[in-house]
Amino acid sequence: MKIIHSGRWLIATCFLLQQASAQQARPDNIVLNVTADPARSAAITWRTHAAADSSYAEIAPSTPDPAFTAKAARKAAGTTGVISDTLAVRYHHVVFNDLQPNTEYAYRVGKGDHWSEWFQFRTAGLPGQPFSFIYLGDAQTNLLSLWSRAIRKAWSAAPDAKLIIHAGDLVNRGNNYNEWQQWFEAGSFVHASIPGLMTPGNHEYYYPNDSGVVSVFWRPQFTLPENGPAGLEETCYYSDVQGVRFISLNSQEIEINERLLHLQRDWLEQVLKENRNRWTVVTFHHPVLSTKKTRDNKFVRDHIKPLLDKYKVDLVLTGHDHTYARGREGNQGPVYVVSVSGPKMYEVDPAPWMHKTGSHEQFYQIIRVDDKAIHYSSYTVDGALHDAFKLQKQAGRQNTLTNLMKP
Ligand SMILES: [Fe+2]
Repeated sequence: MKIIHSGRWLIATCFLLQQASAQQARPDNIVLNVTADPARSAAITWRTHAAADSSYAEIAPSTPDPAFTAKAARKAAGTTGVISDTLAVRYHHVVFNDLQPNTEYAYRVGKGDHWSEWFQFRTAGLPGQPFSFIYLGDAQTNLLSLWSRAIRKAWSAAPDAKLIIHAGDLVNRGNNYNEWQQWFEAGSFVHASIPGLMTPGNHEYYYPNDSGVVSVFWRPQFTLPENGPAGLEETCYYSDVQGVRFISLNSQEIEINERLLHLQRDWLEQVLKENRNRWTVVTFHHPVLSTKKTRDNKFVRDHIKPLLDKYKVDLVLTGHDHTYARGREGNQGPVYVVSVSGPKMYEVDPAPWMHKTGSHEQFYQIIRVDDKAIHYSSYTVDGALHDAFKLQKQAGRQNTLTNLMKP
């Protein structure tokens, strides 16, 4: 997590319209982020009022005996400057390395009399061990009032999930402080307990208009891997979890910036070519196959899709179209999903690739992975199963897709 003081970045800060609400000395907006290797490391980000120009994180293996706290290791946080003089907050971050795989840890953040609670999480296990993860499409609007039910229901269905994918458009106006505040409140301790894998959408680049620069809050408030191309740190990256390579692409920059399109295309080819994981899941905001006839993400389709086919990517998880659609082209290649978790709704235009569709419903997905298969389930936010399939690995051949729900 770093702050880039580019001219454009500073201009964007001038458009921060919201004042910080009474920020406390006690940390809030605490988020556990994926790292490149979540079996052995954990990245934590949090916020305090501006007067806290230093902060700390403590971590220890969690035991039933609360005396574990006496054995905690402490690390000083990296702390940002104040983003704007109308926003009296600072962001802090720590990365813990040298953790043990598949181990329950507890951590807290703060200092002096102002500490968070101890949050528990389990580090990722080793390749081949089964696990689940959560995937959420666009949250974007009415984050506290209505998106909250999606993330909370997902957590209650899979509290031991190893990560949560947020497939872009986490908020509607990327530089709006109140919207981010709602995003954090809606997820509350879930954000602090399950590592988030956030990929930016067009709305992280929006407000007051297409800014050409990611939200001023993105890099201060998240601490995501910096193993992607230069200039796209924390938006284009990968994380290897228990035999799955998760790749985040910055599809906004693919669609609007030719240089960053080619940079990501070449980087993607490299990380797919050298990938030794059994499974590959790629996430980005703009669908390869849109759910509306009037929508087409040409640069993603023309430049990224050929690599997804060539390197036999298993799952492609996207958002942007505010509908649900899941399927495959000619029963070959990756399984494509478009989903939505927030309340902004569009209509699906059915197309041959779609096995299952949905309009005017909020969804969450729970995806279980083992050595032999990916078991995918999509639920509406009332907890009803909407879609399910099994994807089985076949050595040297296309995966076998078994649909478990009628169209
Ligand atoms: Fe979008």
